Amino acid sequence: MEQAIKHVAIIMDGNGRWATQRYRPRVWGHVRGSGVVSDIVQAADDMGVRALTMYAFSTENWSRPHEEVGVLFRLLHKFLLKERRRILSNAISFRVIGDTRRLPAETRAVIADLEARTMEAPGLKLTFCFGYGGRSEIVAAANRFHEANPGMEMTEGDLAAQLFRPDAGEVDLLIRTGGEQRVSNFLLWQIAYAELYFTPTKWPDFTAGEFGKILNAVARRERRFGGLAPLGMSAPSAGEAQSMNV
Ligand code: IPE
Ligand code: IPE
Ligand code: MG
Repeated sequence: MEQAIKHVAIIMDGNGRWATQRYRPRVWGHVRGSGVVSDIVQAADDMGVRALTMYAFSTENWSRPHEEVGVLFRLLHKFLLKERRRILSNAISFRVIGDTRRLPAETRAVIADLEARTMEAPGLKLTFCFGYGGRSEIVAAANRFHEANPGMEMTEGDLAAQLFRPDAGEVDLLIRTGGEQRVSNFLLWQIAYAELYFTPTKWPDFTAGEFGKILNAVARRERRFGGLAPLGMSAPSAGEAQSMNV
């Protein structure tokens, strides 16, 4: 059966608290959390999800201690080297979005190479958000549009087309691990009609099994997009509305 949920976005949160609870330094949580990423990518692919967008580092995360930021950089680099072959053999289309200028040159080179080699890949659209902020993405999109079309009025479609990865489309399901119930500047435009799912599980404990259960649970939700449910019993017929004088 075709997967109803086409685009899943994940806020991978709770690494620091996971480690602190175990009397380990926060960065240990990032190390363990980075191992979970490949399992979830594989699970999304297996379940027929078309796009998976993962929040790895936000514009606000620059305010963290230099050492923690350094560990996150190195983990990204290691992840890319470890997963490169699998990304290629599974025909995954890979991109990193956000401001990557502060990443080491060798990491940027690995990213550029992988992006170029998977540009036309027909499989899962996998996006890593690094140095990413939803507001700055929208501002960049607006600026790009106005640069190309000076003086023109912009439509919603025009703006959407200028986002960092327009082919990923709108988000159907946003999952946040770690128990917080907020969006923390993630994909603000694309989540306008997303289903939201907050799990208390901290990211290093998140599994493909829980991911699958969430997808199945959310697929049963009724999405109305401001309209009415199909065969909605509560919708008055024209005659009923008339008889109610409304
Ligand atoms: C998420 O885990 C990873 C990043 C934000 C980079 P945190 O590091 O935010 O973990 P908690 O929320 O402090 O537990
Ligand atoms: C959001 O988590 C960013 C990522 C998971 C990359 P944060 O831990 O930075 O978010 P806040 O500070 O709880 O909002
Ligand atoms: Mg956090």
